[in-house]
Amino acid sequence: MAIVFGGRSSEHAISCVSAGSILAALDPGQYDVLPVGITREGRWVLAGNDPAALAITDRRLPEITADSGSAVVLAADPTATELIVRDPADGVSTLAGVDVVFPVLHGAYGEDGTIQGMLEMAGIPYVGANVFASAAAMDKEFTKKLAAAEGIPVGPYAVLRAGVSLSAEDKERLGLPVFVKPSRAGSSHGITKVTDWAGLEAAVAAARQIDPKVLVEAAIVGREIECGVLEGEAGGAPEASLLAEIHVDAHDWYDFEAKYLEGGRYDVPADLPAEVTRELQEYARRTFTALDCAGLARVDFFVTADHRIYLNEINTMPGMTPTSMFPVMWAATGLEYPKVVDRLIRTALR
Ligand code: DAL
Ligand code: MG
Repeated sequence: MAIVFGGRSSEHAISCVSAGSILAALDPGQYDVLPVGITREGRWVLAGNDPAALAITDRRLPEITADSGSAVVLAADPTATELIVRDPADGVSTLAGVDVVFPVLHGAYGEDGTIQGMLEMAGIPYVGANVFASAAAMDKEFTKKLAAAEGIPVGPYAVLRAGVSLSAEDKERLGLPVFVKPSRAGSSHGITKVTDWAGLEAAVAAARQIDPKVLVEAAIVGREIECGVLEGEAGGAPEASLLAEIHVDAHDWYDFEAKYLEGGRYDVPADLPAEVTRELQEYARRTFTALDCAGLARVDFFVTADHRIYLNEINTMPGMTPTSMFPVMWAATGLEYPKVVDRLIRTALR
């Protein structure tokens, strides 16, 4: 199998950390793993497989660079289901047959259908959602539209396409505070909480550094609840994990620092009435199905004090880092990290 990580998105480093955790969880007696890194420029390299080199140490984020390894061309022969590895040092080409690819890529150019399309073209099985679901779930506008069409509640929002600003009517409708987000990003990159309209322009500009299309969402005052979903085994219905509640404590909201640099505090299972838990798990499964997902997803919600539920977003390649909720929720549900990874690979090969 090949694990592909790093990549061109703003979540490059988080992808490396996720890949490191997956590499550490894989039984070397069971899997022959080809670790393939993608640099921020989009160059593919055969990387090392030492999980320690892919961890966050002293707040320093890992990075794949051109000298992390030798050059790789993926499936240059679309009929071969092979990775063609060229070692620039001695010019020798080796062919590494790959049965399955685990694209542990977060964000654009990886979680958005692009690598999935390339793997479809080459006929190589891969872990996770297909082209359409990846693209739709990466884009917060289309996630909301598809989920809402299935009766899954979403909060008030406005879409600002490139060059467009928020109208006076939308300001009135959304109220303050709002969250300004790049439509296609993750790990809280490019997100600003705006508490005064004077700060809107700078927030939109920051989000547009990542994506010309920006979402402005009404802030939902409530608890941050997440649910892991796995594709059903043997074609069965998708399965939902126990829920997690994220506590942001000193942080005003669940930003990058709170997600990855501070360890984070959470409750699994979330302390919610049984019927609210069931409703959230049902919404999580329905969101997975509404977007046509496969393999895995993490579905994130807000729940208000009176237990109204709003979908926040879905991640088709959720973080798998040591502080990420997806593996923590499944471990609490009875499926330890290596078992989750095994199941994802088995599902991809089915
Ligand atoms: N986008 C990050 C990796 C997550 O959803 O966990
Ligand atoms: Mg996300």
